[in-house]
Order: sequence, then structure tokens, then C-alpha cells
Amino acid sequence: MTLLDRPAPTVADLVARLQDDRPAFHAGGTRTWYALPGTLELIADHAAGCRSLETGAGASTLVCAAVATTHTAISPSSDEHRRIRRYAEEVGVDTGHVTFVAGPSDRVLPTLDERVGFAFVDGKHSFPHPVVDFHYAQALLEPGGVLVLDDVPIPAVGVVWQHVHRSPDWAAVGMADDRAAAFRKLADAEDDDNWHLQAFNRGYPDFSFAAPHHRAALEAREAVGRLRRRLGAVLGRPPGP
Ligand SMILES: C[S@@+](CC[C@H](N)C(=O)[O-])C[C@H]1O[C@@H](n2cnc3c(N)ncnc32)[C@H](O)[C@@H]1O
Repeated sequence: MTLLDRPAPTVADLVARLQDDRPAFHAGGTRTWYALPGTLELIADHAAGCRSLETGAGASTLVCAAVATTHTAISPSSDEHRRIRRYAEEVGVDTGHVTFVAGPSDRVLPTLDERVGFAFVDGKHSFPHPVVDFHYAQALLEPGGVLVLDDVPIPAVGVVWQHVHRSPDWAAVGMADDRAAAFRKLADAEDDDNWHLQAFNRGYPDFSFAAPHHRAALEAREAVGRLRRRLGAVLGRPPGP
């Protein structure tokens, strides 16, 4: 029987089968760094019927292949891609509409221009890679589309969450396994550099980089400056030097 003759598994069956089989896609076929089952279900809910994109590859690629109209998976290792394709064939998931791109996402993402309705960020987790992946993925995501960030407890990912969950351009639409967060994009990010209007930068000025005695001096100087500006506003004077 060929792949085309077999009924494709449902997402629930696919997720259960992955848990049973535990195929080792990662680290040269020695590791299973899959997204957790609830995260795979979250991906399926939001990638269904969309053009989709992910950084990293693995179980999530199979789920996207099962539900999305087209899918692009970016990770450096083509042997990982071969293992995923082979397993997909074994379990009856068509990958004919999946493009595997072998390369680091920070090099590959800037070369893409087709917009997608779903993006999953789960590639390299060292700082600043999740931020870089987010930067390019959010630009490719069309308004109304959904972004899922995996591994939010990792600070290099958490910093992206810190921005997205406060931004009026995004709405939280789900969380899975206490580590994967889904957000709907409401609007494209603006081109102007209005950093001072971003909720993420509300803590400005943050002098935590300075040694304690210097930090105290910087904070005192800032407090005096703020007081002067307030007084100037009350007295109707332009801000001084
Ligand atoms: C946590 S695993 C992804 C798991 C996958 N989402 C799943 O559900 O099985 C991390 C992935 O990032 C990939 N990776 C490592 N460095 C990368 C890079 N620079 N760019 C893109 N992907 C990278 C690894 O090859 C691996 O596929």
C-alpha cells in the first residue's frame, strides 16, 4: 500500500504514536527534543489550513505537515530532515508540501519573503537566537496569524515573551505545557523607532548594568532630572540642560 492509499493519521493519533515510538530525530539520531504533546496540539489548532513556518524541526514538523497547506522547516541538519521524512512515510503523513531548509535560521529567515499564517519558534535557544528568529518570523507572519514560542521559561525565549505579551500588536490566544505561548498578531510592527512608546521599554532608564555605588549616583541624578522636568512643566518653563 502506498502513502496515498493510506488514511492520514489524525493529529491525536500522530501525537500518541510519537509518544509511543519516540523516534530520535535530533543530535545525529540520538535525542528526542520534541515539543510536548499539549504544544503539538496547540500547533495543530493554529496551523490548520495555513501556510506555516518553523525554526527547528521534529515532531512539530510532522504536525504542521499533517494540518498546514504548505510548511517550511528550517534547521541546520539535513540528516534530521531525512529522519523526519522517513518517519512521516512510516506513519502516513504526506510531506510533499513541506520544504526543509538546511541552514541556521538567522541566515535562512532573511531570504524568505512569502508571508505565512502560522509560525513556530523552536530553533536554537541560546541568546540572541530566539530574538532573531522572532524578529524575522513576526515580519513574515500576516496580521491575524498566530505565533507559538516554545520554551518560554528559558530566559533567552522569555525576553521575547516579555515583549510580545505587553505589546498591543499581539493578543495571547493560548498556553500549553506551561512552556509554549501562542499569540495572534494584530498588526505589523511599525517601521519608526518609537522605542520609548514600547511597553517593553517602560523600565527606562534601567541602570542595573552599573556597579552599585555608580548605580545609586545615576539613579539620584535621574530622580533630580525628573523633578526638574516636572517643576519646569508646572512653572511653564522649557526643560533646562
Ligand atoms: C528543541 S529542538 C526542536 C524540536 C521540534 N520543534 C520538535 O517538536 O521536535 C531544536 C531544533 O533547533 C534546531 N537548531 C539548532 N540550531 C539551529 C539554528 N541555528 N537554526 C535553526 N534551527 C536550529 C535543531 O536542529 C533542532 O531541530
